Amino acid sequence: MTQTEAKELAGKRALEFVKDGMAVGLGTGTTATLFIKALGEKVKQGLSIRCIASSDASHDLAVQLGIPITTFEETPTLDLVIDGADEVAPGLALIKGGGGAMLREKIVISSAREYIVVADSTKVVAHLGKFPLPVEVIKMAMPIVSRRLEVLGLNPGQRHHPDGSAYITDEGNFILDCACGEIKDPTKTAEDIRHIVGVVEHGLFLGMATLALIAGENGVQELRP
Ligand code: 5RP
Repeated sequence: MTQTEAKELAGKRALEFVKDGMAVGLGTGTTATLFIKALGEKVKQGLSIRCIASSDASHDLAVQLGIPITTFEETPTLDLVIDGADEVAPGLALIKGGGGAMLREKIVISSAREYIVVADSTKVVAHLGKFPLPVEVIKMAMPIVSRRLEVLGLNPGQRHHPDGSAYITDEGNFILDCACGEIKDPTKTAEDIRHIVGVVEHGLFLGMATLALIAGENGVQELRP
């Protein structure tokens, strides 16, 4: 089974959790995209739902597929969010933001009763930190935030596109990817980063996921916190 097939399998399993009448948060990234495409098929077949997306890309895809969109004014609480992750550690501690959408993802997830992670089995780790931890930063504050992250030993580096241009998030900010290695105390690291003025959000998602659907050669495994 390829990684894409595993992502597709996790996304298809997640469909079983979406019920008629639900308000659903849509994630960002390749796995979330496969889920959104499968959800679009269900909507064509008559599933009645309304959604809020965590990125412009996922929003545009949902609109293109005819998936009804809602807003936080109309729907302040979502029933569930289906979204991917870059790393899934015990307790469903996550690193997210490889796709640069962790700010809106965290907003959408924080408004939901449930967050179901969809991922292939390569995302499961014993400890967080092999995947660089993304930190979204206000442009003006980049030099000072970068220095403070260095002092914390987090080894930040600005994210760029392959053509060398700076990566800019949907909210118009920069991203510093922290190649920090194993994060021994994710709660403390999350607090340390949050206290830096100029940081908008970081990619540590702790105590947020309620279930993970992890797909691999043996099918889909359900992990709980
Ligand atoms: C985007 C994310 C994604 O969920 C994460 O990067 C996983 O992506 P993919 O499904 O493409 O492996 O956090 O900001």
